[in-house]
Amino acid sequence: MKILVVGGGGREHAIASALSRNSETEIYSVMARKNPGIARIAKKICLTKETDLARIVAFAGETGVTHAFIGPEAPLEAGVVDRLSAAGVACVGPTKAAARIETDKAFCRDLMTHHHISGNPAYRVFHDTAEAIAFVQDHNGDLAIKPIGLTGGKGVRIMGEQVDLAGAIDYIQQIKGEVVLEERLKGEEFTLQAFVDGFHIVPMPLVQDHKRAFEGDTGPNTGGMGSYTMPDNMLPFVSRKDYTAALSIMASVIAAMAKDGYPYKGVMYGQFMNTSEGPKVIEFNARFGDPEAMNVLTLLSSDLCDAVIGITEGSLSASKVTFEHAATVCKYLVPEGYPAAPKVGRPLNLGETGDAILYYANVEERDGRLFTLTSRTLAFVGKAGTLATAERIAEQAASAVQGSVHHRRDIGTQALLDRRIAHMKELR
Ligand code: AMP
Ligand code: GLY
Repeated sequence: MKILVVGGGGREHAIASALSRNSETEIYSVMARKNPGIARIAKKICLTKETDLARIVAFAGETGVTHAFIGPEAPLEAGVVDRLSAAGVACVGPTKAAARIETDKAFCRDLMTHHHISGNPAYRVFHDTAEAIAFVQDHNGDLAIKPIGLTGGKGVRIMGEQVDLAGAIDYIQQIKGEVVLEERLKGEEFTLQAFVDGFHIVPMPLVQDHKRAFEGDTGPNTGGMGSYTMPDNMLPFVSRKDYTAALSIMASVIAAMAKDGYPYKGVMYGQFMNTSEGPKVIEFNARFGDPEAMNVLTLLSSDLCDAVIGITEGSLSASKVTFEHAATVCKYLVPEGYPAAPKVGRPLNLGETGDAILYYANVEERDGRLFTLTSRTLAFVGKAGTLATAERIAEQAASAVQGSVHHRRDIGTQALLDRRIAHMKELR
């Protein structure tokens, strides 16, 4: 298979790396900046904006790729799948219309409402600043404020946590009233990702990400500071019943999209809040999560290329997709000051990596040396039979890096896990 991977972050390094385990696969890459990890795996790379569709289609033509795997949401929103498909390239990733499940928060909520799918919080969609502000003033309290469009995972403001009433009004003005206001959900978050071929859905191990920049879940929201999976591919604060409910919500969304005329092909990412009443949908994304892709692709024991064929040909089968039963812990190193004021261009030195797997993200390699850029820099994944060992492997590698970067030492620790479990018990 000759396959184009679009995107240049840690997620796409994990995708390229998993595809490369099949020695007959040739990997080509389009990315905005040269990711050193992907560059080493790829036969040829094209450095361009990931939304530069003309250039991407031309590169696909020059290289003769038969397939493409789209990592990030921005090219999906721009319609890269529509364009590549028209050029005869089979894509893992939804069309522009189907990607609205992520790119248009109102579309997602309304689709679930129209098809009577459970899991929506109470919500209202606004296209007018004054109306949205009036609503917030009437309901001063527990609301999540979400811009309708894409925000790189950093657009949500939770009232009572990140903003007060004045801050909420300010923010709604800033985003010009194009907003979904929804009930603030309380519980524990988890990520359920699945391969989808339009109709069939094959779930992956559950993952928990950590959005906040600092230890103890403090500080601003980020793209995700790290994530873990457990040896049974479940999470201790998600019961079988919760899991079945979440998967059934996702399956209903896939069925609804097919029925409405935009079948979903690609990786679907469900972010759920496990509440006292079971799982509710925080959002769906039209792609792998970053960092979550690094956990599940490290565990994937079947050939990712087979899944690519299954997704693109509509022949996906759970019996052909297998995951190891092991714990994984992924820790991202980010520049000091990230996300508000990252220190750019600072040198980094890798230390003893041990058994950890290194995934490169937003980092520059110059004359064999690494330098920080504005976003998440490098990730280390530990994989082992127990969470404790996986955590130690990732932590040792992360803390051995020298430079103006930091990471969350608490991700994947038993202490943090115990807090999650206790929190869930308290709610139920
Ligand atoms: P998103 O950009 O939709 O992933 O949201 C970022 C973060 O905001 C999520 O990971 C949650 O922690 C939080 N969030 C989003 N929607 C809600 C909600 N309705 N209730 C509580 N927290 C939410
Ligand atoms: N880790 C969250 C995301 O990829 O959207």
